[in-house]
Amino acid sequence: MITQTTIFSPALAARLDRLVTLYPVKRSALVPMLLYAQDEIGYCSAAVVAECAERCGISELDVRNVLSYYSMLRTKPAGKYNIQVCTNISCMLRGGYEILNHCREKLGIHENKGVTPDKLFSVEEVECIGACCWAPAVQVNYDYHENLTPALMDKVIESYAAKPQ
Ligand code: FES
Repeated sequence: MITQTTIFSPALAARLDRLVTLYPVKRSALVPMLLYAQDEIGYCSAAVVAECAERCGISELDVRNVLSYYSMLRTKPAGKYNIQVCTNISCMLRGGYEILNHCREKLGIHENKGVTPDKLFSVEEVECIGACCWAPAVQVNYDYHENLTPALMDKVIESYAAKPQ
């Protein structure tokens, strides 16, 4: 248990203290731990890697190997609203790339995982998000938006931009 020095909030630190007790070996808690950490810090920073390695009793290299495998774990900050556009087969056949390019053009983002200057949005091309029946689909943080067209995507983006920031 790490309670002396932590980069996390007291609530998250307590959650992570408990998390490692739920598995036969501590390292099995690594992926959920990184996801919880990412939700709080915004990305898996060097400090997140160091603390998660210590909490799981593994090396920082072990943590970085896991980070490089899972695309949902980020090593750079995303926008406040991270738009993940699926371009796998179902979405691709129903306009997934049109949605992806539309998001990039509308937000002026020209690289994968790029972030708007105000840090409000980022756009990321992703593999199947399990919403194939409602393709094309995007995920914004933890919310799904389905059966999209460029016009509907505009409304989705505008709804997030209109939220109190
Ligand atoms: S292919 Fe896009 S959600 Fe499955």
